[in-house]
Amino acid sequence: MNPSTLDIQIKKAKSSKIGQVDFNNLAFGSIFSDHMLVCDFKNGAWEAPKIVPYGPISLQPSAKIFHYGQSIFEGMKAYKDEEDTIWLFRPKDNHARFNISASRMAMPEIPEDYFMEGLETLLNVDKQWIPTTDGSAMYIRPFMFASGEGFHASPADEYKFIICLAPSGAYFSGKVKVLIEQKYSRSANGGVGYAKTGGNYAGQFHPTQLAKEKGYQQVIWTDDHNHENIEEAGAMNIFVRIGDTLITGPTSDRILDGITRKSILQIAEANNIKTEVRTLTVTEVVTAANNGTLKEMFGAGTAAVVSPISAFGYKDQDYELPVVKDGYADLMKKTITDIQYNRVEDSYGWRYRVTQ
Ligand SMILES: Cc1ncc(COP(=O)(O)O)c(C=O)c1O
Repeated sequence: MNPSTLDIQIKKAKSSKIGQVDFNNLAFGSIFSDHMLVCDFKNGAWEAPKIVPYGPISLQPSAKIFHYGQSIFEGMKAYKDEEDTIWLFRPKDNHARFNISASRMAMPEIPEDYFMEGLETLLNVDKQWIPTTDGSAMYIRPFMFASGEGFHASPADEYKFIICLAPSGAYFSGKVKVLIEQKYSRSANGGVGYAKTGGNYAGQFHPTQLAKEKGYQQVIWTDDHNHENIEEAGAMNIFVRIGDTLITGPTSDRILDGITRKSILQIAEANNIKTEVRTLTVTEVVTAANNGTLKEMFGAGTAAVVSPISAFGYKDQDYELPVVKDGYADLMKKTITDIQYNRVEDSYGWRYRVTQ
């Protein structure tokens, strides 16, 4: 953290809830630390950020968030090592992506010092809450929404930027069975698929519920045009290993530029694993499954790092993936988490030390 340039006022909670938390049995993103950072955008400028007790916020019913869904968010994590040093993973990439989302949704950008200094100050205030049990981390949710009023379908004139912290256990869902989507789309050319805006995720709930009713845990999103290109896995980027080549689609208007995705591509390169960033068709994946060259499929994202896929469904048929030894998914997960928890040298320069 640079020397403080912002005057962040801190109003401490009267009492801490930390004693009520079972840190050995943390779920993912369902309990929240004692404090949050709040910052208002009014009269064309960001006001000074404040740290206040975590709690309800008050909004007018006419606030534009409720009507037009002008909202964006990020998902990141803080990790504690054995010396209780706090680390972030590529946090400035989250900040940059936050502003990309803001610009797409006609919202004001947040300056880097508000985001970084605000986050680091908040992490220090609630550092006791950063879990240390194996695989656990502090999930960080920065978000912004239109608090300005009006039933006019136009951008609001006031916004709130908030950061909340959720101590979370290791995210392990086991291997998932996925359905290659043939009807619904999560994004389209010229749309908002590359932005982390709320409606993108709400729009996935219904198709995902339908897939669950059929016995799948997640949807593989395909292109909106003819559902022939493999694009994302739920709210994760997707990797497919055919033979020894690791393939993922290029980022576009429709695909989120995932930080885990780009880290995996760099790790693959450093390990002499051949990668291809190109359009990958469903036909190619089905052919590879049929001729035995399909070795692995996995989702990639901050929450789970990698989420291996055991089988996929396509046009009323299920295709099982083989169990491979020394899989790329395991290698990626280990390499990334070893860097995140400061267990190895970070030759990539991804780890970011939080000043305490
Ligand atoms: C739609 C979507 N794709 C991919 C990702 C993975 O991105 P990251 O690796 O930066 O968490 C996310 C999560 O942020 C997402 O919401």
